Amino acid sequence: MKPLASLLFASLLGISPLSGQAQTPTPEAEALLARALAITPDAKRGEAEFAEQACTACHRKDASGRPATPTPRLSGQHATVIIKQVLDIRSGLRNNPPMQPMVNEEELSLQTLADIAAHLQALPVAGTIAKGPGSGVARGKELFDNACSGCHGAEGEGNSFIFAPMLAAQHYTYLLRELGFIRDGKRGNSNPAMASLIKTYTQDDLQAVADYLAQLPPPQRR
Ligand code: HEC
Ligand code: HEC
Repeated sequence: MKPLASLLFASLLGISPLSGQAQTPTPEAEALLARALAITPDAKRGEAEFAEQACTACHRKDASGRPATPTPRLSGQHATVIIKQVLDIRSGLRNNPPMQPMVNEEELSLQTLADIAAHLQALPVAGTIAKGPGSGVARGKELFDNACSGCHGAEGEGNSFIFAPMLAAQHYTYLLRELGFIRDGKRGNSNPAMASLIKTYTQDDLQAVADYLAQLPPPQRR
């Protein structure tokens, strides 16, 4: 389909790429992801590149992120998740204007991305993780165990095969922001099954599930 025709088609379906609604990745995007995933990474080189590429300016050297901005913790995150999210940001599927110019084709090779992802996956979770108020933990656990653990794992450890991020020990502020984006169709690359589920959640539900996840300990490494 020609770009304009697919734009029209998408808007007929009510999924305007311009508003960042959930979209299906193009075959080109899927092929690029497959190429990146097939690379043999060098985690040592990735450590140097994470600083060299100025990722540390926002995500910090220990990759613990910044709760105020909010910038996610990347330490311990699955390499497949890091690679997919960065490529989605590059293509504009995931809306992240501040990061986009740094991760385009000229700035960041697939090898460097794979190296950085391997480094981050191997990094232990360190630094301070912003917790929620604590009052939603019990309700959040109930919601998570019922609706989310099938993809994100019983301990919030994520699932590298389906690109489901590790959510345990992520900043409360970041989780709440992403959950709002997913609910309102602003994240762009949200898994469609998850997005339709989260659309039914109240703000209290989102706060409760973020409260629960932020205080979970980082899952044991496999
Ligand atoms: C200008 C600050 C900034 C810089 C520099 C930056 N990031 Fe980010 N990054 C962010 C913010 C903010 C988000 C979350 C945006 C959102 O809410 O969707 C993010 C999100 C991400 C995510 C998604 C994580 C997830 O859990 O979904 C990955 C992966 C990532 N960044 C990797 C990188 C890498 C690799 C670099 C260096 C090439 C980098 N970032 C440079 C600010 C930055
Ligand atoms: C069908 C599988 C599936 C289910 C069910 C699901 N998720 Fe997700 N979730 C994903 C995938 C895959 C991603 C990564 C986004 C993408 O690239 O599509 C994600 C991303 C997220 C993110 C963003 C994390 C980050 O690092 O940016 C949050 C927060 C999240 N999910 C929370 C939840 C919660 C809470 C529930 C239950 C209400 C849930 N998810 C149910 C698959 C799922």
